[in-house]
Parts: sequence; C-alpha cells; structure tokens
Amino acid sequence: MTDRPIIIDCDPGVDDAIALMLALGSPVLTIQAITTVAGNVPLSLTQRNARQICELMGRFDVPVYGGCPRPLVRALVTAEAVHGHTGLNGITLPEPTLPLQRQHGVSYLIEALQQAPAPVTLATLGPLTNVAAAIIQCPQILDAVAEIVIMGGAVTRGNITPVAEFNLYVDPHAARVVFESGVPMTMLSLDVTHQVLTTPERLGQIRAIGTPLSQVAADLLTPYGASDRQQLGLMGAPLHDPCVIAYLLQPELFTTYDAQVTVETDSPLTLGQTVVNPQRAAALAHPVQVADTVNAPGIYQLLQDCLATTPAAAP
Ligand code: BDR
Ligand code: CA
Repeated sequence: MTDRPIIIDCDPGVDDAIALMLALGSPVLTIQAITTVAGNVPLSLTQRNARQICELMGRFDVPVYGGCPRPLVRALVTAEAVHGHTGLNGITLPEPTLPLQRQHGVSYLIEALQQAPAPVTLATLGPLTNVAAAIIQCPQILDAVAEIVIMGGAVTRGNITPVAEFNLYVDPHAARVVFESGVPMTMLSLDVTHQVLTTPERLGQIRAIGTPLSQVAADLLTPYGASDRQQLGLMGAPLHDPCVIAYLLQPELFTTYDAQVTVETDSPLTLGQTVVNPQRAAALAHPVQVADTVNAPGIYQLLQDCLATTPAAAP
C-alpha cells in the first residue's frame, strides 16, 4: 500500500495539520499533491495552512492546490470553535513562500487521475466537495482510484449533530456522490477516532521529544479539543485525520468490517448521517470497509517517531 502515490484532500484544521506532518514526514509514503477544500475554516485559510505545513516539513516539492470554496448545495459551515480563527490555533507560522498552484484543485484531481500510470490512493480529511466535483465532471477517473480512505462519518453518534460527523454534515451531497461511486473505500469514523485521544501524558511525551516539530505539534494539540471535551464529554482531543495517514502506513493498527454505508441528504434532522449496514455488505461489489477498533498507542508511537526523526525546516 505504501508505494502507491497518494493525493491528500484536506481542510487544515489542527488535526489535518498533524496528519499532514505525519504524511509529509514519512519516508515510505509518496505524497503526490495536496488539494484543499473549505471546511474547518474558509478555503483562503485551508490552502494557506497546507502550504505552511509543507514548508514546516521542508517539503517544497509537494504542490498544493485550492479547490472548492463551498459545498455543492449547502452554505458552508465552519469550525473555528474547534480549530481557531486561522484554523491552526496555538501556533503562528511564517507567511508561506510555497506558491498556491494556479490550477483549480478539482481540475488537478481529474488531470492527475486521467494521466496516472498506476492507481492512486485518495486520502480525504475534510468535506468531500472536491472529490465529488471531480467524479461528477469526469466519472472515468474512478478507474484510476485504488482506494479512498475517508475520515468521516459516525456509526453510533455524531459530533456536530447527535448523528452527523462534521465532514459529512458540511457537504452531505458530496459525500453521497463519493459513497455511491462504488470505488474501494475505507471509512474511519468518529467511533474509531474517538479512541485516539490526546491525554496529558501523551501531550507531555510529544513535547518531551524536544525537536522543533514536536514543539509545534504540542502547541497545536494543547488547546485543541477543549470544545469536544466540554460538549461531547471526551477525556481528550481526538486525532481524527491522523488516523487516515496511520491507516495508510500501518493498516494492521485497525480492525475493520464490511458494510453498506448510505448518507442522509434529505432530512434536516439527520442531515449527513452515515447509515452503516453490515447486513447488506455481501450484496455489494465494493462494500465500504468500516474501521471498528484502533490501536491508539500505536498511532501515537507513529506520530512520536515522525516528530523525533523528521528534520524540520523550523519556523
Ligand atoms: C473532522 O472534522 C474536522 O473538524 C476535523 O478536521 C476532522 O476532519 C472530525 O469530525
Ligand atoms: Ca479535517
């Protein structure tokens, strides 16, 4: 899995930023490009934040594209209460010199997949607007997708409504397009990411690594998740998006089961809910692989190894 080219679609976002650090610091993942989308904060900030993280990691070779500035149908809902007004609450990075690519992120996705010599893995960390728009414009690109690994959805309970997870809620129509596309897909829902919490002990271990990168990660993760703790009663902040990168690096950290996943797009009460039905899996050519459990210490070990060994271009 790790030698496949990967395109990361994201909306940084504190946990997106940690995921990008994990991905960009990995010597075994081939990150072909980053596309950005509106989500946690508006697109003008998510694309800038992605470029700042690339520079922090010394990855001037990874092109960053700006995609859709709003969901397909609904008005944009953002999450400054979780990620701060810049999207990277807790740190201030220099204005990036890495340019934003001129090409639109959706047109890049289409072109990259049309020209791909080998199947590409899509790692999605935000609302699925860019991927859905690319599929709508050019469905043939699905032939070039090896797998989509999605942070999104909720099996038992949501975080922005009682039943919906943020990424799915922000653009449920896009999510529906992607989940109905029939490509091999792995879903890392809140049921898994809520098992990967930043305890004070884990934060202390990250800070104690003592590298410039570990300080940035600790500064990001310290204020992050206060609202999740208050509103959802979690004991720490969930590392949602890093689970996608961890899955690409070490899928054995997760257990999964197959299911049909349907996205609610009509009911105002349950908009963006993922209805997960394992009983229907056998009837489908490509059921969704739904993650079930995760080895949380294993995820933190991956992150700590990355922060300890990546020579950062520190701010
Ligand atoms: C998801 O929503 C965003 O706030 C996070 O970055 C993550 O992708 C969790 O619901
Ligand atoms: Ca995200």
